[in-house]
Amino acid sequence: MAPPLARRTDSLVQSEIRAISKQVNDVGGINLGQGICDMPTPEPIRLAARQAIEANKSIYSNYAGIAALRESIARKSQSYNRIPLDSVEQIVVSAGSTGAFTAAALTLLNPGDEVVLFEPYYGYHRLILQTLGFGLRFAPLVRPGWAIQWKVLEDAITPATRAIVVTTPSNPSGKVWSRADLERLLSIADEHDLFVITDEIYEYMLYDGREHVSLASLPGAMDRTITISGFSKTFNMTGWRLGYAIAPAPIADKIGLMNDLLYICAPTPLQHGVAGAFDLPESYFSEMIEQYSAKRKLICQSLERSGFEFDWPEGAYYVLAGFEPLSRRRSGFDDDAQACQTLIADAGIGTVRGASFFNDPDDGRFLLRFCFAKELPILEEACQNLERAFAPTRVGT
Ligand SMILES: Cc1ncc(COP(=O)(O)O)c(C=O)c1O
Repeated sequence: MAPPLARRTDSLVQSEIRAISKQVNDVGGINLGQGICDMPTPEPIRLAARQAIEANKSIYSNYAGIAALRESIARKSQSYNRIPLDSVEQIVVSAGSTGAFTAAALTLLNPGDEVVLFEPYYGYHRLILQTLGFGLRFAPLVRPGWAIQWKVLEDAITPATRAIVVTTPSNPSGKVWSRADLERLLSIADEHDLFVITDEIYEYMLYDGREHVSLASLPGAMDRTITISGFSKTFNMTGWRLGYAIAPAPIADKIGLMNDLLYICAPTPLQHGVAGAFDLPESYFSEMIEQYSAKRKLICQSLERSGFEFDWPEGAYYVLAGFEPLSRRRSGFDDDAQACQTLIADAGIGTVRGASFFNDPDDGRFLLRFCFAKELPILEEACQNLERAFAPTRVGT
């Protein structure tokens, strides 16, 4: 028998999201579980990548990213995010925003350091930090509105705390942090001398005219902020694995070296592919918002008619919906695991259990996450199936 594996692998299990995807495929259903957008990658980006491959731009590139891409990210971050960048030395291109997050965590944190996550959290943030051996504290957001409880946040900060993670717009809650929220967070980070890592991968997916505010754009925030974003969601290319971190140059320099150690560089020809991504016409971004807004309305109305209770997402493309009202009038909704199975069996729809987003699984007991980044006809079919299965039948119709 081989010797035991490292203890850090104990918490690594096949993601339940994948298991659900398989179950949904087996029944020929529709998967609204995994957060993959299956829309096509824009043609100009695909063309530029093809050209780079044909031109044999296939060798290792600068560990922090090719110059053209870093320059393009710098321009976009100045104009869209209003981050006071003054050099490409503040940008590190990595293997997805996940690569950037991992490289940043390893750069900022020592063994024994703690990080505060807001609940509901994005599972990878938790698992990456936990697997790397850092301590975690949780600050629950409360419904309605997924409001921040400032006192709870302050209580979660200990002498070992080194960083807070903020995801805006948030997966899974859809919360978009306001400028006032971020100002207050910054004052807490200042007071306790903490880093803030912001995950802004859904920065272009905003509803009802909401504005995306980057923490690093606030006066004095850049020094302690690591802004993480990427191309996966905005340009429908989750498999290309391209993302980036923005930080003050001395920190970005070390994140770059860490990135070198972990990945050597992000995929070179694909970096050439996305170097022009932010130069797509303004209509690309506005049409994306229009399409997601229509899909959000479709699924939210359908979920409401089916008996779910939730705040409509302010951004990103998920609905974290409560099914307590349904559980009072139907069997199969005693908890999130059972509800997830009931949705597959009765409506052929895959979802993610609420427990995936909380430290205490009980906090997600009456929640399911629905992803609406689907082609419209597929989403329409999913909504019809949902209502057919769960909407109360009206007497006389
Ligand atoms: C909040 C959040 N951050 C990061 C990612 C992954 O991004 P990337 O593909 O750039 O690694 C996801 C994907 O679902 C996400 O929801």
